[in-house]
Amino acid sequence: MELIVAVALTCILSAVLALLVLVADAVLLDYGECTLTLNKDKEIKLEGGGSLLAALMDNKIFIPSACGGRGSCGLCKVKIHKGGGEVLPTEEPYLTVDEVKDNIRLSCQIKIRNDLDIEIPEELLSVKEYQTTVEKLTDLNHDTKYVRLRLAEGDEIDFRAGQFIQFQAPPYGSNPDPVYRAYSIASPPGDKTHVDLIIRLVPKGICTTYVFEVLQEGDKVTINGPHGKFCLTGSSEELVFIAGGSGIAPILSILADMREKGIDRKARFFYGVSTLRDLYLFDEAKKFEGELPGFEYIPSIARLAPDEAWDGETGLVTDVLDRHIKEGQVKEAYLCGSPGMIDASAEVLHRKGIKDNSIFYDKFS
Ligand SMILES: Cc1cc2nc3c(=O)[nH]c(=O)nc-3n(C[C@H](O)[C@H](O)[C@H](O)COP(=O)(O)OP(=O)(O)OC[C@H]3O[C@@H](n4cnc5c(N)ncnc54)[C@H](O)[C@@H]3O)c2cc1C
Ligand code: FES
Repeated sequence: MELIVAVALTCILSAVLALLVLVADAVLLDYGECTLTLNKDKEIKLEGGGSLLAALMDNKIFIPSACGGRGSCGLCKVKIHKGGGEVLPTEEPYLTVDEVKDNIRLSCQIKIRNDLDIEIPEELLSVKEYQTTVEKLTDLNHDTKYVRLRLAEGDEIDFRAGQFIQFQAPPYGSNPDPVYRAYSIASPPGDKTHVDLIIRLVPKGICTTYVFEVLQEGDKVTINGPHGKFCLTGSSEELVFIAGGSGIAPILSILADMREKGIDRKARFFYGVSTLRDLYLFDEAKKFEGELPGFEYIPSIARLAPDEAWDGETGLVTDVLDRHIKEGQVKEAYLCGSPGMIDASAEVLHRKGIKDNSIFYDKFS
């Protein structure tokens, strides 16, 4: 009993102390106006106190982020020349030893307390914000929607197949602030006036609940992009695509782009889903077999019910991969979907002799 009381008191004391620190930080510490020097070139005046990621976004400079600044995606890296303070424990899991030496930091974890001198890749300066309208919103299955966004009249987005955008869910229900989440573009870069997305519902997820419960055809959506480097290299070697669930999105864009550009690399697409009802866009993926010489689509169902008709592969996508790929045969791999599926597939690929630097992925974390 005494132990329980002691633990409870310690918890309450810690919570009170944390609250006091937050209140003191917000009320007593006025950091005033700070100057941000960007790429040794541009000076921006910022109000101190907020995160660097948010301040950059307020100034229409869009650093990639999938977690909306919660420090859990590791995408929002920038180089800090001066003023970032020490690396925080929340950043450590996402930074390599070399990145720490090179002063790379997570911009969402850096609070603006003083003047800052930072460097970001030039290509991020061309990332733009777009106002779009939901042209189509359809169910692909029980937990996944296809969202077709049309850009405003006269606007065009230039992106490379495999890249993603950040989708802004506005305040709704009990969520008082807008949040940004990353979604891969499923449409081909040849169509510059639309952005198609495949969005899977995450239970209690802020953005996906907004898409599933609030968003309607005709609504306006703010996006920014393009972001990311999950794009085909110029190699002509045989490759594999591996995806699970909504990870099919960038692969469809890449395949359509290969068709448009006449890229005829030998390629196989291993697509893993849990059950037969999760296998959407089958015809769309299958038809690339007739349009791309050397392309094969290999979907697999992890759990097939005894009464279900299916003559394709069954089992985990990793096992299917293991059965199909011969050692030394494939030189490049493009993986997209859940972190667990990607890590497990990468292990199989290593065993088949594919080098780490030839395995490209986007983890939907
Ligand atoms: C580069 C990139 C591209 C992406 N592209 C797509 C895409 O094309 N389609 C798509 O559906 N998603 C995609 N995602 C995932 C997407 O960005 C969001 O993370 C996801 O939709 C959840 O957002 P949310 O706001 O609904 O959930 P949140 O409010 O962020 O999360 C709610 C809770 O669920 C957990 N959680 C978050 N994501 C997942 C998940 N995927 N599975 C299980 N638990 C989760 C969180 O840890 C949290 O505890 C991509 C992610 C990245 C990094
Ligand atoms: S925005 Fe996700 S870690 Fe910073």
